[in-house]
Amino acid sequence: MYNRSEPQLDEGFVRNIKEGLGARDQKRVNPKYLYDSAGSQLFEAICRQPEYYPWRTEAAILRQHSTEMVWMHGKKKISIIELGSGSSSKTRILLQKVLLRQPSLYYFPVDVSQAMLRETIYSLSADFSSLRTIGISSDYIDGIDKANSLIAADRQIPDKKLIIFLGSSIGNFEPKESVAFLRNLRSKMEKSDDLLLGIDLHKNKNVLEAAYNDKEGITARFNLNLLTRINRELRGEFNLDSFVHHAFYNSCYKRVEMHLVSTKDQQVYVGRLGQTFSFDKNETIHTENSYKYSEEEIKQMAEASQFILKRNFVDEKKWFSVALFSPA
Ligand SMILES: C[S@@+](CC[C@H](N)C(=O)[O-])C[C@H]1O[C@@H](n2cnc3c(N)ncnc32)[C@H](O)[C@@H]1O
Repeated sequence: MYNRSEPQLDEGFVRNIKEGLGARDQKRVNPKYLYDSAGSQLFEAICRQPEYYPWRTEAAILRQHSTEMVWMHGKKKISIIELGSGSSSKTRILLQKVLLRQPSLYYFPVDVSQAMLRETIYSLSADFSSLRTIGISSDYIDGIDKANSLIAADRQIPDKKLIIFLGSSIGNFEPKESVAFLRNLRSKMEKSDDLLLGIDLHKNKNVLEAAYNDKEGITARFNLNLLTRINRELRGEFNLDSFVHHAFYNSCYKRVEMHLVSTKDQQVYVGRLGQTFSFDKNETIHTENSYKYSEEEIKQMAEASQFILKRNFVDEKKWFSVALFSPA
């Protein structure tokens, strides 16, 4: 029976958990479900950990090259759409630069995390008086469609777009999926639009594994929070003491994998699904992949998805890339 105090069911989450935990082989959950309100706050905390090089390296690239990144679009006014914007903290570097060349800016952050989006809109409006922030709480592609419709419906909004996708979130897709995703994105862009893509590069296994296993255990809490979310939203009965975080570099696939490992044989009932899931000792739920790329692979990714790699901004250590893709 429906209980008024229970959160509204997210049908996509229900489907993903049913299929993902019911899988005969590898159990898996879409990484976007890691980002409820608590998950988004934990991700912010991860970004501040000394081992987590991606955030600070990408921010340094943006600080060093943002003038160039902004002026490469010519003199026309632009609007910005950001996919998976989170706290938009790095994006502020770009927003400031754009506002030096045009008096106002329409910014459309798109994120599945409604709580984080609300908080971000609030703090951006307090800090930037000439920024018009229109938050879109949805999946990436629906978000682009909604932003495109809003831009088309209002002649005051510049229709030349810079789409940004930072934080190496493209690495969460399988390489084939990332090309399909980028092609789809390309089909929603005009020839004069651009895409700025943050991508993590190949590097030493120890550096990679440390980044996803910080000493403070914040990434572990972020990963385990998925079970807390299932318990809260789906009336799950997961005991968080019976699962542990495991993240490692898989050199065959050139990706960091994140898993939740069952520490014993156990059965877990999920009330709102009316279903029990069995776990063997050491069986895992695969919660995230983070693929790493080379500069050459980024160029190939651009070409395979009908873009041209206009510029690849990388840091001195060549740990991270912010790539500017233009429609081919
Ligand atoms: C790795 S964080 C990156 C945040 C920020 N862009 C940064 O670089 O620090 C990924 C962000 O994308 C959001 N997200 C994940 N999957 C998504 C999806 N399928 N559609 C929309 N947003 C998504 C998450 O809520 C989170 O805020």
